[in-house]
Amino acid sequence: MALYNDVGDKIRAVMAAQAHIWNHTFNFINSMSLKCAIQLGIPDIIHSHGHAMTLSDLVNALPINNNNAKIQDCIYRLMRILIHAGFFIQEEEGYLLTPTSRLLLKDEPNLSAIPFLLAMLDPIMTDPWHRLSQWFQNDGDDQPTPFTTTHAKPLYEYAGDDARFNCLFNEAMASDARIIISAINEHCKGVFEGLKSLVDVGGGSGTVAKAISNEFQELKCSVFDLPHVVEGLEGSNNLSYVGGDMFKSVPSADAILLKAILHNWSNEKCVKILKKCKEAIPSKENGGKVIIIDIVVDNQKGDDKSYETQLFMDMLMMVVASGKERSEQEWAKLFSDAGFSDYKIIPLLGLRSIIEVYP
Ligand SMILES: C[S@@+](CC[C@H](N)C(=O)[O-])C[C@H]1O[C@@H](n2cnc3c(N)ncnc32)[C@H](O)[C@@H]1O
Repeated sequence: MALYNDVGDKIRAVMAAQAHIWNHTFNFINSMSLKCAIQLGIPDIIHSHGHAMTLSDLVNALPINNNNAKIQDCIYRLMRILIHAGFFIQEEEGYLLTPTSRLLLKDEPNLSAIPFLLAMLDPIMTDPWHRLSQWFQNDGDDQPTPFTTTHAKPLYEYAGDDARFNCLFNEAMASDARIIISAINEHCKGVFEGLKSLVDVGGGSGTVAKAISNEFQELKCSVFDLPHVVEGLEGSNNLSYVGGDMFKSVPSADAILLKAILHNWSNEKCVKILKKCKEAIPSKENGGKVIIIDIVVDNQKGDDKSYETQLFMDMLMMVVASGKERSEQEWAKLFSDAGFSDYKIIPLLGLRSIIEVYP
């Protein structure tokens, strides 16, 4: 009997291990199912329906060719996995949105996570994952990332040569910027109060700088990014665009904003960028500071999912950009290596923090 129990426990452990492995093996199905729902416009269709939507109403409203029993069953199964993941709920009368899927509406452009999701799940971004082990084995020395192993050039150079991807990537960054700036406006506007000038280094198409310059009319904002990113963009009375290379020099201002920049780069490159920023700002006594918006990796304060998402971002930075997500200790070392005297971390709700760094 004891022997039978031992065998039973062993098999139970093997089956549990297999189930765990299958769950990881199929993790991508969550991402791809969500991508499909967005491409079909399911959140918008349910939203514009105005009340709970039955499966047959949903199938009738979808931009698909075949409204037959098979397709209806497939849509039912697509919805079932997305309900399980918390993107929709099903009541007796039909499907409804959840607070999460409200961020997946095309007609709410100010708070839409769609462009970010579509860019991150574009084959240009997902193909390099198939080369990760090859990169470790063969290319680690001469190719900086699996992205370069796959596409023969670094991410930002690639974006400069592929107009479709450049647009997709910049719109992804802009959509994230719109979401984060609404959180900053609610929770920590004080970070920008009292400044006369600000340069958003690597500011992309200027979404964050535009929101800040609208909120603080006296503040002179510049968006500094690679020439192909700012080409043709028009400023306003307190917003201007400057093309250049942050490794060479950064325009002077009271404060420099670095949102989602340093996590793209190695420690050595970050110290170079931070030193250029330090040259561009006044002393701490005269109000000079660098404002960083990025992840501070922390497995203590957030919930388990937040920590997992921070680790996903860290792996993404390894695969596409030679960068990493950093713990507070790692950030502190960068700041002292670049000659800064002090810093303050202001956690934002969600995954990221604002870090003020003083010369
Ligand atoms: C991850 S995106 C962040 C964009 C923006 N800060 C945001 O969060 O929405 C990184 C930005 O850095 C810019 N960038 C990359 N290399 C650069 C360089 N050498 N000089 C200036 N900007 C650069 C990219 O073009 C891109 O817009």
